[in-house]
This record gives sequence, C-alpha cells and structure tokens, in this order.
Amino acid sequence: MLITSIKINGFKNLKEINVSPHPKLNIFCGNNAQGKTNLIEAIWLCSGVRSFRGTKDKDMIDISGEEMEIDVGFRDKRRRQDICYRMARPYVKEKNCSLNGVRVKAPSKLFGSLDCVIFTPEDLELSKGSPDRRRQFIDLAAAQIKNSYKSVSDKYEQVLEQRNNLLKSIAFGRSEKDELDVWDIQLAQMGSYITLMRNSYSKKLAEYAMRLYADISGGREELSLRYVSTVFETVDDRSDYKNDLANEYLACLRAGRDEDIRLGYTAKGVHRDDLCAYINGLPARDYASQGQHRSIALVLKLAQANILTEETDDAPVFLLDDVLSELDPSRQSFVISRIDNMQVFITCCDENIPENKTGKLYHIENGRIVK
Ligand SMILES: Nc1ncnc2c1ncn2[C@@H]1O[C@H](COP(=O)(O)OP(=O)(O)O)[C@@H](O)[C@H]1O
Ligand SMILES: [Mg+2]
Repeated sequence: MLITSIKINGFKNLKEINVSPHPKLNIFCGNNAQGKTNLIEAIWLCSGVRSFRGTKDKDMIDISGEEMEIDVGFRDKRRRQDICYRMARPYVKEKNCSLNGVRVKAPSKLFGSLDCVIFTPEDLELSKGSPDRRRQFIDLAAAQIKNSYKSVSDKYEQVLEQRNNLLKSIAFGRSEKDELDVWDIQLAQMGSYITLMRNSYSKKLAEYAMRLYADISGGREELSLRYVSTVFETVDDRSDYKNDLANEYLACLRAGRDEDIRLGYTAKGVHRDDLCAYINGLPARDYASQGQHRSIALVLKLAQANILTEETDDAPVFLLDDVLSELDPSRQSFVISRIDNMQVFITCCDENIPENKTGKLYHIENGRIVK
C-alpha cells in the first residue's frame, strides 16, 4: 500500500498541506505543537478508524475556520484509490466522506481500504496498561484481516449497553428478569464468535511476536501470548460458535444474572477478556521492566503489520508518531530495520534521520510544510 498524495486543509491547525510522499520513508520534523501528530491523525482518519487521540468532531476543524478537508490518494496491490474526508460547521456530525468519488454513509465505511498500523508513545504501555487497550488492539488488528469482524464487535458493544441498561432497570424494579433473555442470546452468539476470532488472531500474533522478540532480546528472553477468556476455560479445538460455544456462553450469562443486577453491569464476557503477555513464563503486566514493555509493544505492532502483509498480500502504511525519540538506539534501529518493506511516516523533533535510508524530510511549522 502506497500513499501517493496527501492534501489537508483546515484540519486542526493544518493549512494547505499538499505533498507527494516518498514510497519508503517520510519524516515530518518540527518543534512541539506545530501539527506533526495532527498530520498523522489526518492520514489515520482516512483508514476509517476513530481518532487514536480521541478528538471530538467539533475539534477536527480549525478553531477559527469553518471547514476541513483531507484528501489521500493511494495505490494498493490492484489499483489507485482516493479517499476524501470533509466536514463543515455547524453540522460536524455529518461528515462527508468518499471513496473513489462515491460518497459513503459514515467514516467507518472507509475501513478496509487504506490499511494503516499506528504506533504512538501511548502504545509503549500496551502490555502494562488496562486490558481495554489490548482488546482494542486485537479487535482492530483482527478486523483488518477480516473486515466483517468489525461490524460484529461494534454490534456487541451496542447490545452490551442495552443489557447493562436493563440490569439497572431490573434493579430499580422497573423491568423483569426474563427480559434479559433476548440480549443474552445475542451476546452469547456474538461473544462466542468474537472469542474465536480473537483467539485465533492471538495465536498468529504469538507466533510472529515470539520470533521478533527473540531477535530484539538477542535470544535471551522468550515472549509468549495468551488470550484469556472470562467465559471459557479454553476454546482451542472448538469452532461451533453458533451452538456449542454459544450455549456455554449463555449459561455463563444466566448464571451471572443476579450478580450482574446487583453490580449494574455485565461482569463476564468478551468485553472483560484480555490478551496476556508473558516473558520467560512470567506475566509481563506484573513483572516486566519498562524496557521489556517497550519491546513487547514494538513487536506486537510489527507482528500486526507482518500478519496484515501476509494475509492481504499488501503491506500496510506504518505510522510512527513521536516514538523513535522514546526508544534507545538499539530498539530504534530494530524498528527501522523491520519496516523496510513498508511505506513509513515518522514524526520527530530533531532531524535525526536513520542512517542509510533514502526518503523525504519535511519541516512542519505552525501547521504548514516549510522548506
Ligand atoms: N481545532 C483546532 N484548531 C486549531 N488548532 C488546533 C486545533 N486542535 C489542535 N490545534 C493545534 O494543534 C497543535 C498541536 O498539534 P500536534 O500535531 O499535536 O503537535 P505536534 O507537532 O507536537 O505533534 C497545537 O498548536 C494546537 O493548538
Ligand atoms: Mg505530536
């Protein structure tokens, strides 16, 4: 996958950006608060995923402007494509997005066209922070290789919210317990499918990540990964999510009803599962050093990109926002050496260009590219 043109105007502080990126390496360099992350974010939005920094709709447009436009032209293994993402005040909820000139209903419908892998300083804590981030990571990565997965995991969240509302309503005596049936059945079906998808993705991920981690640690440490379900003891060698797994899932939800009503939320289910990392058999979350956490995060992102390349026969665009400066020289050169086959966008504060690399260097100042 190759981005061939980027035009941005009015997205946050970015003004009249018009670049034809290098097929390999693109470095955006500038002082703090000049718009480097904004630029990465603009590219990211075109991949059809919500902002990685949680920007609200109204804050996407320049504070003193009325509209914004992002236009990204790219080539995948088959053809040239073009994504346009526009919005204007005051109707910021009504985004105008199009793929190859055809308007799509919502930005999420862009998902699956421009595949990106992003790595930000927050990701450095992936194996340390809350399970929430790891579930998000695995869901996005799994959806990238199977687009239909995304609608199931989105739907699950909606149904879960309905169930949780009902739990509270039952607690207040406004609803009956058996009204839970309709939601439990749906959650059991979707949850079983999600468990299977995540479990099989985790296995792929574990394979790639283990090899990469052996390399980055000079063979001294071994990384293993395991998907930990709150519902199933194991789903290995099971595949019948519509019956076998769904029945067990449903039984688990039913058994937890009284407790859930008391809590006001659903205590078990894929929304509480985790992807656990272990170094030499010890849980990373409790035992790993800061450096080990960084290495884990790095290899997870690289593994994600490698799996995507293998499964889709096309390398994703790799976005590295401000992380190189957070890594020591050996981890820096490790990353750089492993993203050789991809188009890369890097932001940084100094002009420390990786050695022996060809690419383009852009300076960004006050939202504009300056020479
Ligand atoms: N809606 C907006 N309108 C105008 N400027 C914005 C808006 N949102 C953020 N900014 C500006 O963007 C800058 C931060 O951009 P960012 O890309 O995070 O910087 P960095 O170069 O450090 O990565 C700040 O100067 C901030 O004021
Ligand atoms: Mg930044």
